[in-house]
Amino acid sequence: MDTTFSMIKPDATARNLVGAIIQKLESEGLKLQAGRLTRITPSLCETFYQDHKSKPFFKSLINFMLSGPVFVMALKGEKAVEKVRKIMGHTDPAQARPGTIRALYGESIERNSIHGSDSLPNADRELALFFNKTEWKW
Ligand code: RTP
Ligand code: MG
Repeated sequence: MDTTFSMIKPDATARNLVGAIIQKLESEGLKLQAGRLTRITPSLCETFYQDHKSKPFFKSLINFMLSGPVFVMALKGEKAVEKVRKIMGHTDPAQARPGTIRALYGESIERNSIHGSDSLPNADRELALFFNKTEWKW
């Protein structure tokens, strides 16, 4: 069993979609190990998206992620990283497979409702930014 990190983004919390998105993840077999609604600070947001610092969309992405609350989660399951990425769908909601979270709820390539770690090392790094290990490792 692996544990991955996921975050419901401000476009989705603004539309009261937290429950629907958690429902979808749970119904696909993921176990919610830890979770909370929070606001990210600018420095935490820049650390979180450090790999995208040189991208043209970086500044806009940071502004969006700071625009409202996010719901952060630790999700456990068989191949949890790949599983969550599959349930999320393509980064661009217009290209996401029908039934995926981004196809259902995403508004644009930026306002795409959910984040999921893209590898196990990144999951560990991202989990550590938001949770104590005792909160999710049980
Ligand atoms: P995420 O990291 O949020 O799970 O999404 P991802 O792997 O599918 O996408 P990634 O390439 O890591 O990009 C991170 C987030 O940046 C925003 N983005 N905007 N304007 C654009 O062209 C653009 N491209 C990406 C999205 O919010 C994306 O999820
Ligand atoms: Mg990514």
